Amino acid sequence: MKEKIRILLSEQEVDQRIAEIAKQISEDYAGKEIHLICVLKGAVFFMCELAKRITVPVTMDFMSVSSYGNDTKSSGVVKIVKDLDEPIEGKDVLIVEDIIDSGRTLSYLIDILDKRNPASLRLCTLLDKPERRIAQVVVDYTAFNIPDEFVVGYGLDYAQKYRDLPFIGVLLFGEEDNLKE
Ligand code: IMP
Ligand code: MG
Repeated sequence: MKEKIRILLSEQEVDQRIAEIAKQISEDYAGKEIHLICVLKGAVFFMCELAKRITVPVTMDFMSVSSYGNDTKSSGVVKIVKDLDEPIEGKDVLIVEDIIDSGRTLSYLIDILDKRNPASLRLCTLLDKPERRIAQVVVDYTAFNIPDEFVVGYGLDYAQKYRDLPFIGVLLFGEEDNLKE
């Protein structure tokens, strides 16, 4: 079965919103340096676009976690696949995530990063599906709240595909008409 994609947020909408968030972050962190932590792989595109627009100095590190489970739902069991290269003690850390769904991945990640004594620890996400929250997480910056639909593009994948789409689209498993290829 071939999947199709309905555009939810255009490239222009996403870019414009990232510029707004970057401005807000730059104001909030005025006079400081931000240590951005990208949650691989989904947040790569978002973090690059964000970093380019933040006007205070930034450093970056990358972390990879995986939740055991099937393709479209997170199981709640999270393991670190790749840890950070550098310590975060004393740094103003901003976690950059692609999407918060149940919140399990992030609540786990925030727990372990908090134990490493950063000066501050905040969270920025491109997308949030608030309806689906199971584990409570405080989200400091959200680009878009979206409905409970499976989305791809701008870094987000389905079975490792579609990360390269420059927009965010809803993945349709063949059940809808009126589709954009
Ligand atoms: P959570 O632990 O349930 O919050 O799941 C977060 C992770 O699940 C995200 O970082 C994504 O990797 C994945 N995920 C959740 N919803 C979607 C979606 O709609 N599209 C693609 N990946 C998703
Ligand atoms: Mg992710």
